[in-house]
This record gives sequence, structure tokens and C-alpha cells, in this order.
Amino acid sequence: MSRLFIISNRLPITIEKNGENYFYRPSSGGLVSAISAYLGQEANSRFTRKVWVGVSDCSEKLWKSADSGINAEYEFMPVFVSPKHYEQYYDGFSNSVLWPLFHYFPSFADYQPSFFEGYHKVNAKFAEELEQTIDARDTVWIHDYHLLPLAGMLREKFPQLTIGFFLHIPFPSYELFRVIPREWQHELINGMLGADVIGFHTEDYLEHFLTCVQKVMKVTVQGRTIRRSGRDVRVGAFPIGIDFKRFHEGSSDRAVLLKRSEYLRSKQDKKLIFSVDRLDYSKGVFNRLKGYGEFLVQNPHYKEKVVFALVIVPSRDSIRKYAERKKMIDEYIGNLNSRLGNINWQPVMYQYGHLSFEELLGLYTACDLALITPIRDGMNLVAKEFVASRRDKQGVLVLSEMAGAANQLAEALLINPNDRREISRMIKVGLEMSPDEQESRMTAMQESVRSYDVVTWAKQFFTALDRVSAEQIKKEPL
Ligand code: G6P
Repeated sequence: MSRLFIISNRLPITIEKNGENYFYRPSSGGLVSAISAYLGQEANSRFTRKVWVGVSDCSEKLWKSADSGINAEYEFMPVFVSPKHYEQYYDGFSNSVLWPLFHYFPSFADYQPSFFEGYHKVNAKFAEELEQTIDARDTVWIHDYHLLPLAGMLREKFPQLTIGFFLHIPFPSYELFRVIPREWQHELINGMLGADVIGFHTEDYLEHFLTCVQKVMKVTVQGRTIRRSGRDVRVGAFPIGIDFKRFHEGSSDRAVLLKRSEYLRSKQDKKLIFSVDRLDYSKGVFNRLKGYGEFLVQNPHYKEKVVFALVIVPSRDSIRKYAERKKMIDEYIGNLNSRLGNINWQPVMYQYGHLSFEELLGLYTACDLALITPIRDGMNLVAKEFVASRRDKQGVLVLSEMAGAANQLAEALLINPNDRREISRMIKVGLEMSPDEQESRMTAMQESVRSYDVVTWAKQFFTALDRVSAEQIKKEPL
């Protein structure tokens, strides 16, 4: 029997109870949608059982009573963590130290010792729960920055277990990584090195990681192999893809077409610019608004001829930096609309809330230009989803070169998110691009998103993992 354990902070569903009824709400975020898409495909049928392990965000009692109603192609293994430890681990170390630092916002990081203690404890709790269930023949695939020490913890108990680790966010340069207290640096890197294969989105993140390994652990690195006592660890760049078919085919669903017509009707003859992000300082929302404001000032003839639909999806609002941001964005948009708009026209239409799949695809397919300007982004799947959804091969993508996705979407209009004049210029270029040029750029980008989708991504990761584990078995037969 071959079992695959997918391990991430978040489970793909949240359970809620209303009266006597249970509701299973899908979780949001790129990681969850990518892995769910992969698990839902035939391609992983080599595993007879698939188990997704993650922190439960409901009580053990609620989970147990609702468990049998979950309808998925795989099993769930919830890990129950005390609210205090979860806060230290999630709000604290994961999202107030690692997230800001790895996205090049070092001044936002808060190095409270209790955060690291909680982070260590939650990782140890994952290891403890897994130790009771897994055996050396299983394959374990750990995801993201919440769980950097986990592979190392499991490796201590299971020297021959096959372990993969994938980081969904950037890995920063050593000059940033080294600002983390030294003992913590060691636990983080040593933990990652418990895996057989460590994957990143880009070659740059991989290079930064190798530098950190050499500086922090003083071990030998040969090409993409890290030599450790008896065990080699391989690193690789595997840029994550999306479920291309879902976005491409979904864009002609009846419900999506209806939404699209609704948006087209309401924009009338105006050009429509669109963006959607989780609420996060790394997404560059102010830079985007400043670039758009500059565009309107430089090109006054576009007044009343363009509208920007900006959607922000609530996220991590228990963390101060996120709650503050919401307020700042609200104020900024109010200001921009009152400064540049008039009684007939609001330059920015703003929604703070979730979009349904139909609304999302309706907007991707109705807009003239998608404006995606993160200051730093591990990959950015919105850019790929937009491209996949455009069966008409029209629409322009203006994309930050600081997003990992820029490596695969070279035909986008690439901008530096700190250069508001460049954003303004590229909005104009995009809105005035000929249909032929839009088509040729979109065709090339679509081919790249189609050929390297989420299943290809996972397959390539597993190929690398199989190779390393076969070599390992040769060295030390089970
Ligand atoms: C990023 C991270 C994911 C995370 C997602 C949503 O994509 O890489 O691990 O799940 O953001 O963030 P949240 O904190 O809501 O899980």
C-alpha cells in the first residue's frame, strides 16, 4: 500500500455549524487551490490513499461530529492545537516574522521569543501526530513556511521516510535571512534539510537558499545537492502552475457568461481594469493605485472612459499590520475617487470581500487589462488564472517583475511596482494595444500556462523525489 500525506498549515475546508446543519466551506489561497486540483486528478493514482494533514480551525468535537459528511477524493487528518500556541505560531512567527521577512519587509517583523516557541510547539505537534500514523514506506509532502522545521523532526524518527518539502513563498537573500536570531536560523534550515527534495518556485529563491545553507550550516553544497552525513538533499525549481482546464473551460460556462455580460453592461463603453488580491502589504495595492492615479492625471482624456474594479479578499485580519492596511486602503480609495472622480464617475470601484468562481471568471473575461503589481510575490496565480480564462485571446496583463510568475509570462507588460510612472505608461500602452498584438501575447502566455499546469508541477516534483529516494534505498536497503 502506498500512501501520500500532504501536510500544510491549512486544510482545504473549514467546517461550520448553523443550527443542526454543517457547512463545509472551501479555504482560500493559492496553496489550497493548487494542491486540491492536483489531488483531484487521475495523475496521482499511484497512491492508494491520500491524506491531507493540517490544523483544524474548528473544535475537535465539531470536527468529529461533522467528519462523515465531508465529500472529497482524499482523507483528512486534522491537527488540534491550543488557541494560544496557534496564535504564536500563525499570527506570530509565521505571519509576523517569516512572511514579512521573506517578502522583503524586514521592518514589519517582530521577533518575539514566544512566537518562535509556539511555532516550534505546533511543528512538534504535527510531528507527534504523524509519528503515530505513518511508516517508512509512506511519502510525505510538506508545504510552506509554517512548517519549516517539520521535515527535520520527522527525519529523526524515520531515517528512511521519503519526504518532500515545497516553499510557496520567496526564499530571501542571506542578507535578510541572517537578521533572524541565530538559533532560530539554524532550526529553520536544519528542519528543511530533513527533506529529500526541497522545491522552490524560481532559480533565484533556490540560489538564496543554498547560500543560507552554506553560511548557517557550514555544509558542502555540490551543484543542487547538499551533502549531509550519509544523506543527500536535492533542491530544485518547480514553478507552480494552475488547474488550466478549470479556468479555460470554466470561462465559457453559462453562469460565467451571464456574469460577464452583466459586467460588460455596467461598464458601458468604458475600458475596464481589474485586480484581485488577498489583503496583504506584499501585494502592492498602494503602488497600483498611485500608478493608476498618475495615469489619469497624465491622460485626462481617459476620465470617464476607464474604470478600475479593485477587489480585496479579507485575510489575516487578526494581525495588526493587516487590519491597519484595510483602513489605509479604504481611505486612499476614497481620497482618489473624490480627487479625480465626479458625480457621474468613480475612477475606482472597490469591493472588500470574497468573489464566487463565476464572478471571478466573469471579471477576468470582461476586463480589458489585469493590473497585478505585487512588491514581492512567490508566484502569483491570479496572473496565470487570468491568462488561462481568456479563450478570446484578448486582454492585456500588466505584471510586476517581482512576482515569480513573471519568469513564465514574459509577454506580459512587465513593470517595476515602485515606479508609478512606468505603471501609468504601461496602463496606457495596454489600453491602446491592438487586438492583433493582444492575441499574439496572450497566445504565447496561454501556451506557457497550459503546458506547465499544476499536475505537471507535481509530477516533476515527484520525479525528483522518486529519484532521490531510490538512491537512498540503494545505499541503505529497507
Ligand atoms: C499564501 C501562502 C499559503 C496561504 C495563503 C493564504 O499563498 O503561501 O500558505 O495558505 O497565502 O493565506 P492564509 O494565511 O489565509 O492561509
